[in-house]
Amino acid sequence: MTQESDGFRIDPKWFWSTERAEQEWEHVWSKLWHMGPRVEELPEPGDVFVHTLGRESLLFVHDEDGVVRGLYNVCRHRGNRLLLAEDGPAFVNQFRCAFHGWCFDLAGKLEHVPYRDRFDPVALADERRTSLARFRVEAFAGWYWYTLDDQAPDLATYLGPLRERLAAYQMERATIIDYKTFEFGANWKTVFDAFNESYHFQTLHSDILTWGNEDAPITLLNIHSYMVNEYGRPSKMYHDQEGVNPSLKVLLQANGIDPEGFTGTAQDVRAAIRDAKRAKQSAGDRNFPYHTLNDSQLTDAYHYMLFPSTHFNLFPEFYVTLRYRPHPSGDPERMYFDFIMCAPLAEGETVEPYEHRIVRGGTERVGDVLKWGARQHPIVNQVLDEDVGLVEFVQRGQRSQSFDEGILSSDERRIGHFHRMIDDLIRGMPVRDLMAAQVAEEDAHDGA
Ligand code: FES
Ligand SMILES: [Fe+2]
Repeated sequence: MTQESDGFRIDPKWFWSTERAEQEWEHVWSKLWHMGPRVEELPEPGDVFVHTLGRESLLFVHDEDGVVRGLYNVCRHRGNRLLLAEDGPAFVNQFRCAFHGWCFDLAGKLEHVPYRDRFDPVALADERRTSLARFRVEAFAGWYWYTLDDQAPDLATYLGPLRERLAAYQMERATIIDYKTFEFGANWKTVFDAFNESYHFQTLHSDILTWGNEDAPITLLNIHSYMVNEYGRPSKMYHDQEGVNPSLKVLLQANGIDPEGFTGTAQDVRAAIRDAKRAKQSAGDRNFPYHTLNDSQLTDAYHYMLFPSTHFNLFPEFYVTLRYRPHPSGDPERMYFDFIMCAPLAEGETVEPYEHRIVRGGTERVGDVLKWGARQHPIVNQVLDEDVGLVEFVQRGQRSQSFDEGILSSDERRIGHFHRMIDDLIRGMPVRDLMAAQVAEEDAHDGA
C-alpha cells in the first residue's frame, strides 16, 4: 500500500535525511498546532513553562492580565536564552538576560537596558525589534496548544470533528500523575509510526489477544484519526473464546468484580465491566466521566492521533498522552518521546507531584520509570516496554541500503495517511488545503 496508484511511497530517507528534517521544520513543525504544557502548570501570574521543540525554546507565560502567552525564549539583544532550562516550570517577575542584563516584562516588552545611552535611540524605540517575539497559544482539553505560524487556522478549525469527540472525556478535569521524557536514537516518525497501528499487537503484544482486539477499527477524521482498542473480550484470533483467562480476571478484579465468583464466559466480561461502571454512575459517582461516555468508551481505549505530534490513549479513569518532538540537536536520528499520564482525581484524592526528567531510552524499563500511583495498570507498562524496545532497531533497518520501501497492511493505513499528509505539506500544500482535501472515513464500529 505504500506504492499507491499515484506513485506515493514512504521513502526510507525521510527517516534519516537532514534535508528532509529541514523541510519538516519549515512545513510541519513551524506551520501546525502542537501540544504544550498542561493548563494546571501555570495557575498564577508569573508562572512560566519552558518547552523545547527541536531548535526552539518556547516560553508559556501567565501574565498579570491573566492571559497565558507564548514568547520565544530569545533575548532581543544578541539572542541569548532568557531561561536556561530545557523543559519545565519557573516563576519570574520579569525576564532578565544573564548576558548583558536586558530585562523584559511578562508580556515580553523591553523594560531595562544597561547603559542605554550607548545605543541608537531609534533602534531601542522600535518595539518590533525589542519585544520578545510571540507565538500563538490556545487552551483546549486542559492543555495549552501552540503554533509558530501567525497564518495558521485557529485551533478549533484545526481540530475539526475531534474537538467534540474529545469533549466527552472532560480531559480538562484531569491532573498530571506522571510526566517523563524518553530520548531515543530514532527519527520522531519511527516512534510515531510504532504507536499508530494495531497490526503489531499479535506478535509484539501477543498477550493482548487474551483480552482485546488486535484489528482495531480505524476512523479518519480529516487530518486526525482514531482507533478503538476493545478491552474485555479475547481477540477473534485467540484460541479460547469461552474461558475467563487470567488477563480477563485481572480486568474484572480491577473493576471491583470478584473473578472467582464470576459465572459468565469470556464473552461476558466486557459487558460486566460496562455494567459495573454504569452502576457506579447510577450511584452518583462523578469522579469519572461515565455519564458522558458511550458504552464502548467505558471499556475500550480510544486512541486518538492529533496530527502531527500527539497521541491520546483515553480511558474513562485516566489517559495517556504521547508527544513526539524532534531533537534539539537537529539530528534526525534522535528524538524526544514524552509520556504524560493524566487522571481526574476523586474528591479528596491527592497525588505526589511528578518529577520530570529525560531518560535515555533503553537504560531503564518504562515500568520502573513511570509512576502511576493509584492508577497502576498491570498491562500498560509491559506493553510500553515492548513498544519502545524496538524503535532503535527499526530506525537502523530503515537506514539500511537494502531497505527501499515498506509494505503496509490495512491495519497500518493510518501510517500511510500520516506520511502522505506530511509529504503534501512539504510539497507546498497549505494547511487549509490539506484539511479540505481529507475525507472522513469511518470504520464500522458498533460501540457494543
Ligand atoms: S544577549 Fe541578552 S542582554 Fe545581551
Ligand atoms: Fe504497541
